[in-house]
Amino acid sequence: MEQQPQPFVTPQPVQPLQPVNPQPSDLPVPTGVAEKPVRIAAVGDIHVRETDKGKWVDFFKAASEQADILLLCGDLTDHGYAKEAEVLAEEMRACTIPVVCVLGNHDHDKDEHEAIRACLLRDNVHFLDGDAVVIKNVGFAGVKGFGGGFDKYMLSMFGEVSNKAFVQEAVEEALKLEAALSRLDTEHPEVKKIALLHYSPIRATVEGEPDAIHPFLGCSRLAEPLDRQNVLACFHGHAHIGTLEGETPKGVKVYNVAKPILQKAGFAMPFFLFDV
Ligand SMILES: [Fe+2]
Ligand SMILES: [Fe+2]
Repeated sequence: MEQQPQPFVTPQPVQPLQPVNPQPSDLPVPTGVAEKPVRIAAVGDIHVRETDKGKWVDFFKAASEQADILLLCGDLTDHGYAKEAEVLAEEMRACTIPVVCVLGNHDHDKDEHEAIRACLLRDNVHFLDGDAVVIKNVGFAGVKGFGGGFDKYMLSMFGEVSNKAFVQEAVEEALKLEAALSRLDTEHPEVKKIALLHYSPIRATVEGEPDAIHPFLGCSRLAEPLDRQNVLACFHGHAHIGTLEGETPKGVKVYNVAKPILQKAGFAMPFFLFDV
């Protein structure tokens, strides 16, 4: 079995919950009564095409062997065709663990996103769009998110109607995320919360992309619910040449798990492992 690198993991002794990324065989064997962590595999931007038949079986088998839950952070299809989702659905038959997904902008491109969702939905596949799901005592809240820019360069609700509509989209996505996280808090106060997005909530994980397109890669408005709702970690994609790891102003860990980033970092299989 090939090694997966863990170049971005800094152990934090005082933190009982940490990101970890070695293969299971590299991990210390749990002893005593310590509860086994729930291992999450996460990737975004798999961009499956109609010509991909048979190309994803090994990926889903490996994720199923190495993790308890798989997160797919949007851009599941390359051009947004339901036919591409049909190919992906067939490949996902090799996946034996629960899958939690959000859609990305590419999945919306041909206005076939509802068909894409319907095609991929199974008993063990959960699509989140302002919703939450609890699996193995971990709570997942997800939205696609939207652009708008970061920090002091974030677009404000000003000017033309079309500009306000652009800003409003990000505001609504942030509100949906907040509502999903609040629901988890109310209905399952005991669970750790993980957020799943396609667009980035912070600037740090889009660094590497040209500055000029940062406003189209994410929005700081999406970070506010993460900080307010005590989220353990957030996973997103979309910025293919961004940066793997960052954190919100209040220290919530954010991982850009876009497939090209994981491949560039040398991951044998393009999924990032995180223990809860
Ligand atoms: Fe993408
Ligand atoms: Fe995208």
